[in-house]
Amino acid sequence: MSVRSWSASALLSLVAVLGCVAAPVAQAEGNAAAGKTLAYTCLGCHGIDNYRNAYPDYRVPKLVGQHPEYLVIALTAYKSQERSHATMHAHAASMNDQDMQDVAAYLSGGAIKSSGAKPVGTAPAVVATCQACHGTDGVGIVGIYPTLSGQHPDYIEKALNDYRSGKRRNAVMGAFAQALKPEDIKAVARYFSQQRPALQTTYRPTSRYTVAK
Ligand code: HEC
Ligand code: HEC
Repeated sequence: MSVRSWSASALLSLVAVLGCVAAPVAQAEGNAAAGKTLAYTCLGCHGIDNYRNAYPDYRVPKLVGQHPEYLVIALTAYKSQERSHATMHAHAASMNDQDMQDVAAYLSGGAIKSSGAKPVGTAPAVVATCQACHGTDGVGIVGIYPTLSGQHPDYIEKALNDYRSGKRRNAVMGAFAQALKPEDIKAVARYFSQQRPALQTTYRPTSRYTVAK
């Protein structure tokens, strides 16, 4: 059976099953001060507002406020090439697990938490499926589920299209992305990108994030 033909209730059952499988993962114990040195080159792209990847053109993901656990998972996937991106592979390939935890602790600056406020705008119908893991307002409910709130919409679209095409390999997101129509992808990207509290590109002097100088 094609995943595209799955009903919404079948997808929600899949959420329940996957939710059980995905349970406990070791906490990342990164040292942000050690991560600062490693992060120097990273900020050349991730530290500049609206910095763009060329060919294809989309903005590089915001990392400030993201779950550090997820950032380690992402770096591990670039290292193993489950996620393909030449520059990110080159950076991740030279890092060991401790380096990844340290740089994740620094770049995240601490995971943002859901404010509990009413979400911004009207959620497209398909968003109900996503909220089981990514939260009502796009703040991932546990550290292994990436936060999407305030993320660049063009990056969210790019990620979903990569899951659909299999360029980015992940069993869970592969199934969900396959079930989305192109117009759904645009709608969910827009919805999550406008939620608050939002991921950020850089540490601002006034922000709540405190990092080792
Ligand atoms: C030349 C620009 C550039 C540099 C330098 C760079 N990145 Fe990236 N990074 C990107 C792009 C573009 C992506 C999105 C790639 C994709 O589509 O998967 C990305 C993705 C990521 C992600 C995944 C985020 C997510 O939401 O899944 C992490 C984590 C990350 N980078 C960390 C780092 C770290 C750590 C360094 C430094 C060691 C670094 N990056 C250096 C451009 C860069
Ligand atoms: C069962 C839990 C679950 C559900 C439901 C779910 N996701 Fe995910 N999502 C994940 C996990 C786990 C990842 C990280 C996968 C990886 O490592 O690539 C992820 C990653 C993503 C990413 C990439 C984020 C980044 O920073 O690169 C996007 C975008 C995304 N999901 C959107 C959605 C949308 C839209 C839906 C609903 C149609 C959805 N997800 C439903 C668990 C889920």
